[in-house]
Order: sequence, then structure tokens, then C-alpha cells
Amino acid sequence: MEELISKIAELIIKSKHAVALTGAGMSTESGIPDFRGPNGIWTKNPDAERKAYQSYFKFQQNPKEYWIDRMTGASLLGDLINALPNPGHFALAELEKMAILKCIVTQNIDNLHQKAGSKRVLDYHGNISLLRCFSCDSRFDPREFELDRLLAEDRLPPLCRKCNGVLKSDVVHFNEAIPADVAQESQAEVGKCDLMLICGTSAVVHPFALLPRMAKQYQSKQKTIIIEINSDPTPLTEESISDYLIQGKTGTILPKIVEEVKKRTS
Ligand code: APR
Ligand code: ZN
Repeated sequence: MEELISKIAELIIKSKHAVALTGAGMSTESGIPDFRGPNGIWTKNPDAERKAYQSYFKFQQNPKEYWIDRMTGASLLGDLINALPNPGHFALAELEKMAILKCIVTQNIDNLHQKAGSKRVLDYHGNISLLRCFSCDSRFDPREFELDRLLAEDRLPPLCRKCNGVLKSDVVHFNEAIPADVAQESQAEVGKCDLMLICGTSAVVHPFALLPRMAKQYQSKQKTIIIEINSDPTPLTEESISDYLIQGKTGTILPKIVEEVKKRTS
């Protein structure tokens, strides 16, 4: 493992535009369950996944009901608002501070990369700490809307300050399009990157799972080195999309890589 960590550190130092793609595996060490791992939410409760596929349809049919459900039901992921970043998040934030990591494209809605200090984060599946307008895609801080009062006075859903459209959570539901701004910026980052760290994702949900495959296709122009950090091999490993798999916990491996990078660049 040490040899592989040194090799990866060397590759990261030599990179010109390193990008990280992250998934729920980054946050399990912060106490947030993943979806498809051995203790994943969908693994343990397939019914919950089937229900999750209904959320977007429900919002479109009856935004008021969607909001009442959302405000009165329990979150599947537990207490995300108070969750704290773990050493894996801080390690990626440090790589950004060293001007090596240029961007994180995350599927996680938990805001933990931002809490760890990462600045350039694209929330591919949205962010639990934001609301987004269904009509104009404007995003807002929920605290601007006195949501509890709207619930008590039967005045849900909250409406957009810009176009009076209906607001929903910024979280992207199954069958909902990835917000255009995030989709475009993520694709641009993948087109520019010459090294991709793929951390804690099973890489099975589309269109996110296309990003590493796009990076592989761009290889004709530039060799994009794709490095997976995951407790287990994934389809990216099996299809040889990734050039390396460091098998283990992101909270342990990422800090080791950053330590090695710091040793070699100081
Ligand atoms: N360190 C490294 N890998 C981990 C760790 C850890 N501490 N914990 C879990 N993993 C791995 C699991 O083995 C699995 O391969 O992370 C991966 C998590 O995969 P998923 O649970 O499928 O999560 P993710 O890939 O982010 O899911 C994508 O699916 O349900 C949707 O919208 C949801 O954004 C989510 C999307
Ligand atoms: Zn709007």
C-alpha cells in the first residue's frame, strides 16, 4: 500500500488539472450511511429506494404535499445539518489549498466538502442546505423563507423571490435533470482534467457515472490518469476505466496521500 501511495502522490504532483469525483463513501466516516455499500440505505431497505423514485413525481403533482412530507418526515440520511467533515474531506480541501486539486464534483448533498473548507465544489446532485426554483433554477438559503411559519399558516410551498416560481429542495431527485449550470461546469472540468481521483462512489448512477468514462474518452487528447479510492472494486475497476484502485477507507487513504504529497513538495 505504501508503494502505491507514493506512486499516486507522484502522479498528483505532476498533474496540471486534478479533479475529484466523490460519492457517499466519503461521508460514511462522518456517520452518514451510503446507499449501496454493505450497510447502505438502499441495500438494507429496497422499498426506500423505490419510494425515492416517487419524490420528483410527487413534487410535480402536488408541491404542497411534497413540502409537508419533507418538513414533517424523518431524513433517510439522518441529521445531515449537524454532520461534520472527516479526515477525507479535509485532505481534499488541503489539496485544493495547495493549488493541486482544482475542483470537486460531488454526488453528496451533505455540504461536508464545503464545511471542510473546499471552495470549488460542484454539487452534482444538489445541496441539502439550499432551495432551488423549479422555474428559473435560482438558489436560496432556506432561512430566508420562515418555512415553519409557512407550514403553520398552511401557506406552503415557498415561492421564488425572482420569478414567483415554486421552490423545491436543491437536492436532485431520481428522474430529475441535473441543474444545467452544474452539468455544464462538471463536463468542462472533466474535459480539462489530466488526473481524476474517484473517491467513495459505486459509479452506477447516471449521468454522473458517465463522467469518468468521458475522461477516459478524452484520453486521446491527453492521458487522463484515473485513480479510484474505494473500500471495494467498482464497475470502473472491472471495466479498467480506472488506472489504479487504492482499496480502503477514504478517511485513511486520502490523508496519507496528502502527507506524501506534502513531504515531496516541501
Ligand atoms: N471509504 C471508501 N469507500 C467507501 C467508504 C469509505 N469509508 N464507505 C463506503 N464506501 C464505498 C462503497 O463500497 C461504495 O462502493 O463507497 C461507495 C458508495 O456507493 P453508493 O452507496 O452507491 O453511493 P454513491 O455512489 O454516492 O451513490 C450515487 O445514488 O442513490 C443515489 O443520489 C444518490 O448520490 C447518490 C447516488
Ligand atoms: Zn424562479
